[in-house]
Amino acid sequence: MKITVFDDHQALSFQVAQMMVAQIKNKPDSVICLASGETPFLAYHLLPTLLLDEGVDHQQFTLIGLDEWVNIPSQNTGSCSYFLHTTLIGPLKLSLSQFKLFDGMAPDLQTECDSMDEFISKRGGIDLMVVGIGMNGHIGFNEPGVSTELYAHVIDLDDTTQTVGQKYFADKTTLGQGITLGLKHLQEANAAILMASGDRKAHIMKATLEGPIDPLIPSTIIRNHPNGLVMLDQKAASLLT
Ligand code: F6R
Repeated sequence: MKITVFDDHQALSFQVAQMMVAQIKNKPDSVICLASGETPFLAYHLLPTLLLDEGVDHQQFTLIGLDEWVNIPSQNTGSCSYFLHTTLIGPLKLSLSQFKLFDGMAPDLQTECDSMDEFISKRGGIDLMVVGIGMNGHIGFNEPGVSTELYAHVIDLDDTTQTVGQKYFADKTTLGQGITLGLKHLQEANAAILMASGDRKAHIMKATLEGPIDPLIPSTIIRNHPNGLVMLDQKAASLLT
C-alpha cells in the first residue's frame, strides 16, 4: 500500500481522475468499480473532459456501482444510482451494457447480490476500485465488524451511517440497510484507491493507517492490498504522524 498526500481536494481529485483516464487508456475494457458520495464527486466531474482531451475511447470500459441504499428508488436524488447517472453515466453517454448498479428496490436482494457477483466474475474481476471512507471506517457499506470474506451482500447500516447518510437526501429518510460489494472484492481487485478529504476524515484516517488492522475498522484492510493507494488531502492527513 502506498500513501500520497495532496495539498487540497482539488489536487487530489485531479490526480484520481487522471489515474482513471490512464486505466481506461491502458486497458480500454477495464472493469472499474466506483463509490458515490462527496469525496469522489469532483474527480468524476473532471473525468469526461480529461477523457475527451486525451482522445481516450471510453465506450468499452464497464462501470460498477459499489453500493446502494436498500428501499431507496434510483430516481431518488440521494441514491447512489442517481449520483453515478448524473456524474458519469449520463455525461459519458455510457450504453446500457456498460454499467451495472445495484437496485435497492429489487424484490429479491440476494438475487441482486448474486447477479452482481456473476457480472463481475464473468468480466474477469475488477481492475480498479475507487472508494471513499465512512466516519466509522466503512468501505462501501462494509460496516464495522463485517467479514472480510464476503462478496456482494445486504447489511444493516450502523447508526453512524444512518445519521451521516442523511446529508445526501433532501428530506429525512429512513436508511436501514445497504447492499454492497464485499471486502473480498476489494482484496481481489487489481488496484484500489481509497480517497479521503477534509478535517472530518482525519481521525478515521489515523485509525486506518496507524492503528491495528482490525475488522472493526474495515478500511484497515487496504493496508494488506499489494496495489492499494491511499490518496488524501492535507486536512484528512493532518493527524498522521
Ligand atoms: C458510497 C460509499 C460510502 C462513502 C463514504 C464516504 O457509495 O461507498 O462508503 O464512500 O460513506 O462518503 P463521503 O464521500 O460522502 O464522505
